[in-house]
Amino acid sequence: MTAPTAPDRAEILKRLEAIEDPASGRGLVSAGLVQGLAIAPGRVSFMLEVSADKAAAYAPIRDAAQAALQDVAGVEAAQVVLTAPAKRARVSDDPQASPGPSAVAARPPHVKRVIAVASGKGGVGKSTVAVNLACALAGLGQRVGLMDADVYGPSAPRMLGVSGQPQFSAEKKIIPLEAFGLKVMSIGFLVGEGAPMIWRGPMASSAARQMSQDVVWGSEAEPLDVLVLDLPPGTGDIHLTLLQRLKIDGVVLVSTPQEIALIDARRAASMFQKTGAPILGVIENMAWFAGPDGARIPIFGEGGGRREAQALGVPLLAEIPIDISLRESGDDGRPLTAVAPESDVARRFTEAAQRLSPSPLRGGVGVGV
Ligand SMILES: Nc1ncnc2c1ncn2[C@@H]1O[C@H](COP(=O)(O)OP(=O)(O)OP(=O)(O)O)[C@@H](O)[C@H]1O
Ligand SMILES: [Mg+2]
Repeated sequence: MTAPTAPDRAEILKRLEAIEDPASGRGLVSAGLVQGLAIAPGRVSFMLEVSADKAAAYAPIRDAAQAALQDVAGVEAAQVVLTAPAKRARVSDDPQASPGPSAVAARPPHVKRVIAVASGKGGVGKSTVAVNLACALAGLGQRVGLMDADVYGPSAPRMLGVSGQPQFSAEKKIIPLEAFGLKVMSIGFLVGEGAPMIWRGPMASSAARQMSQDVVWGSEAEPLDVLVLDLPPGTGDIHLTLLQRLKIDGVVLVSTPQEIALIDARRAASMFQKTGAPILGVIENMAWFAGPDGARIPIFGEGGGRREAQALGVPLLAEIPIDISLRESGDDGRPLTAVAPESDVARRFTEAAQRLSPSPLRGGVGVGV
């Protein structure tokens, strides 16, 4: 068998330019959507950078680009990651907002612990991490709920393959759906995929409030051990509403190793620190891309997550590589950590879950709160 040769860069750019960006009518390359192009023997990958609210619309473009690259001579695996530039919503954009420990914040009834998964930048993999971390915690025997609080672009229905209208209890509380052993509540169940783009400001905040207060997560006999909260990107009004209503026991920060993502993660960290919610650790996502020989290609830089964790004085909970099966499993609604718990990536999520678990479950070095 001969070693694969690196695919031709000009050919790759030509194929990508042949795909039209629906917004500008230009080819993907001249529209500036191709970021971080990395070419290695047998492999090619890049980020398709579009604003978070257009991510769903660009999924077919991502698929077309991936299929086109797959066709190029010398390409055995092509990976296109849909990602968003940083959102610029700030705490200071909302005149009513005053981050600080809130007296009224409480855990939802029958929930022992709330862990929020957050980042400053969009598209760094929060939802992927939240879903897989929730499955990993469930795999450790805990009762786990997942709240998809991203009212602008919910992902839990797609990533867990659940849909349908949740039922209401006699007390008019929402009964979450169930998937892969998790109780799941997403604003997407209430408004349907696509529709949430119109939720803005006060409406979004009121949806977040309903999500934090009116869901039956557990009972006296069967309380939830942990509720994992998938937050929207940024530091805007949804976060404030949730932080004012919901007692968050700890925050897991997700970042890519890239400097811009780290700057935004820092901003998010400082918002949470002001509210008194401790940062439990950092998960570095898209940490590298494994070449055919197993060599790590640091597409977004190297070691940024570890440095950030050190700077914040918190553990690096996991380094998750760019992995095609992780993306595909998210798109197929079958989380990798639930369906292939022995895979390398799933094991990384399980290790993070152990580090986040209270003493009896964690193997020595936990950061349980
Ligand atoms: N480690 C990874 N390897 C490959 N693809 C990944 C990885 N992490 C995330 N992705 C893919 O990148 C895209 C964005 O991920 P995801 O939706 O989890 O990000 P997000 O931070 O929740 O985005 P948003 O800010 O829009 O909520 C998805 O298509 C996802 O499948
Ligand atoms: Mg998300």
